[in-house]
Amino acid sequence: MAQLVVALDVPSAGQAERLVDELYELDVLFKVGLEALYGYGDRIFAHMQARDVRHFIDAKLHDIPRTAGAAARQLVRPGTHIINVHAIGGNDMMRAVVDGAAGRADELGITAPHVFAVTVLTSIGGEDLNELGFRGGLGENSMRLSALARDAGCSGVICSAHEVRDLKRYFGEDFLTLTPGIRPTGTVHGDQKRVTTPAEAVAAGADYLVVGRPITEASEPLAAAKAILEEMR
Ligand code: C5P
Repeated sequence: MAQLVVALDVPSAGQAERLVDELYELDVLFKVGLEALYGYGDRIFAHMQARDVRHFIDAKLHDIPRTAGAAARQLVRPGTHIINVHAIGGNDMMRAVVDGAAGRADELGITAPHVFAVTVLTSIGGEDLNELGFRGGLGENSMRLSALARDAGCSGVICSAHEVRDLKRYFGEDFLTLTPGIRPTGTVHGDQKRVTTPAEAVAAGADYLVVGRPITEASEPLAAAKAILEEMR
């Protein structure tokens, strides 16, 4: 059963807390991205822990292995279900993050979080890849980086719902996929280009659907989240 992840992409702790208060009784996880992490990380983590909800820390780690692994150790806390890394940081770095997260979870007596890898950011196009010196196209690079992530012990990758079928076919059902770019029919796409509806993402086999603005900017976030969960079922 696919899980809904609500992105807490709002500028203040108060707004993020209100979203958690409104939605925590639903079967959802919350995503703490860079805006929340740098702006009011401690406060929102304490609030989510008080509400006993699980979260995804979208820290997109990318540094030398020791630093990235040490950062993963600092991030993991009760309620952490997923953290992520840039696959472009390489095998040793991803492995350091997987080990750091698992080691910290073990010390805390909690289940080790999933580590997901970002392969190619959805904001990067084919021309950008060439400019950066990558050989091959988007599909080829995202497959190669997915294989690297799997070999380094990551649970899966962050990708467009359009890529889920191919990834599952190639790496197997147990290789997890987390898909942003979800837009219920009739909602605005904003800056997301390759979008799918919640039902399409679930039908493709996505394991986690990340939704931000269609919920956070809705006049009634609770009703919007419930409608998405209903469509996912
Ligand atoms: O508001 P929206 O539903 O577009 O939010 C999607 C969320 O997923 C944002 O927090 C964005 O940073 C994140 N994300 C993404 N594309 C990626 C990785 C993460 O949209 N490739």
